[in-house]
Amino acid sequence: MKSFVQIQSLNEHVGAEVALRGWIRTIRSSGKIRFVELRDGTGICQCIVEAGEPEAFAALEGCGQESSVVLAGTVREELRSPGGVELAVSAAEVLHAGEDFPIARKEHGIEFLMQHRHLWLRSPRQTAILKIRHRIIQAAREFFDQQGFTLIDTPIFQPGAAEGAGTLFEVDYFGNPAFLAQTGQLYLETAAMALGKVYCFGPTFRAEKSKTRRHLTEFWMIEPEVAFYELKDLEGLSEAFICHLVQAVLTHNRAELEVLERDCGALEAVRMPFPRMTYSEAVEMLHDAGLHEKLESELAGEQERYEQLLKDIEALESQLGGSMKAWKREKLSKELQALREQAGDLQRWLQNQPGHIADAKGFRWGDDFGGDEETILSRQFDRPLIVTEYPREVKAFYMKRNEADPRTVLNLDVLAPEGYGEIIGGSQREDSLEVLLARMAEEGMDPGPYEWYLDLRRYGSVPHGGFGLGIERTVSWICGLKHIRETIPFPRMMGRMSP
Ligand code: 4AD
Ligand code: MG
Repeated sequence: MKSFVQIQSLNEHVGAEVALRGWIRTIRSSGKIRFVELRDGTGICQCIVEAGEPEAFAALEGCGQESSVVLAGTVREELRSPGGVELAVSAAEVLHAGEDFPIARKEHGIEFLMQHRHLWLRSPRQTAILKIRHRIIQAAREFFDQQGFTLIDTPIFQPGAAEGAGTLFEVDYFGNPAFLAQTGQLYLETAAMALGKVYCFGPTFRAEKSKTRRHLTEFWMIEPEVAFYELKDLEGLSEAFICHLVQAVLTHNRAELEVLERDCGALEAVRMPFPRMTYSEAVEMLHDAGLHEKLESELAGEQERYEQLLKDIEALESQLGGSMKAWKREKLSKELQALREQAGDLQRWLQNQPGHIADAKGFRWGDDFGGDEETILSRQFDRPLIVTEYPREVKAFYMKRNEADPRTVLNLDVLAPEGYGEIIGGSQREDSLEVLLARMAEEGMDPGPYEWYLDLRRYGSVPHGGFGLGIERTVSWICGLKHIRETIPFPRMMGRMSP
């Protein structure tokens, strides 16, 4: 009887006979030895098959990448191998011999990878991201569960808009229009009046007609809502929450962060308290001559770095023109590929940055921050930035009017550092029926479909508020990704609905 073990716990079995089940990541034969890199979802293990085990050796003949196999043998220490152990194989069984796996080890373009997303998920990078996504979701639920919040499931078919009519997905609901949820918030508010502290967690939908690295049309949002909470309370809750997520990943997912080559120092810097400023202060910052000087000198520095990169690329290219061993060529080609990618990114940044600086200088009070402003603001801090009290015209109808400056509302956006931008949006809610009705009229909203929501302001209205954190934006930031499309198993974006 074989005793199956998982690769992640293989180092507990040194000297023992075990069997592994998984998929072949790579296989290469050199004379009388086959080297198999086996993956099973928990890790990667080097397996050595010697010709001295003729049956096992022959069984693997012709097996390609992603063939599924059972390999049995003895676990032995091997410090150079991932995990510090390897398997000396004595028996091999091929479950299914895969042929011509479409995603080879060579580089593929993003379009090809997205079309093969169902297979791309098997790569070490993608599994690392999926594990961190799982950790973030687990930690998010744990945070609210530990603080006495009750989970409330809010509906996905909804009768109206909550975050503006412009991004609604309409569906046919037995002959009547219904809309896919943009947020669970309005329903969550009703539950907060029943239970005090509640949260919802589910998929949300926005018909975003923008193809950016931050927008999905289907994304997951976790939203707390608390009776008697005011803006200050929400600021404190959001920073404690974000710190909890980052700590969970740092504690449990070092290996995955390493696969992603994530700079962990940047994550370790995420500690309370977070810097806070009002929208008006943020606008002042965008107009500040000192900031412009800093941005200009950063630009000059990056221009120099770009030129150096081009020189390094040229040097590598000429080196590769000469003759060398195959392994060396492969290593240098990889380095070259990485440098080219860096140079491409930097070139795009250098092209766009002067425009962003100009936008910052010309930014007008009253406009909403776009990705560019958020990037500039959030790059000035080593931890997330809380921005409060935006102009009410650019924010949702339910946000509470700021009595101290009625042009603004009592809201908060939390911007992730390193240029990632908004990951949390929230507010204190308008709790006065009169003010809310007036605001809805201003927006041209028919109060009819919202009568149930307005009832909260008729029966025991209290101050309350909450926020929503986008899981994918958070995964993108914590993993240090360039684009949101890799943060969710099957991304839905404008122009992408399959697989
Ligand atoms: O700022 P938003 O629109 O806020 C709300 O929906 C509120 N009802 C939440 C609340 O107060 N309960 O969205 C909240 C967060 C954003 O900060 C962002 O992280 C994410 O949801 N988000 C998106 N993520 C990916 N793609 C999109 N198109 C997103 N739109 C918002
Ligand atoms: Mg927002």
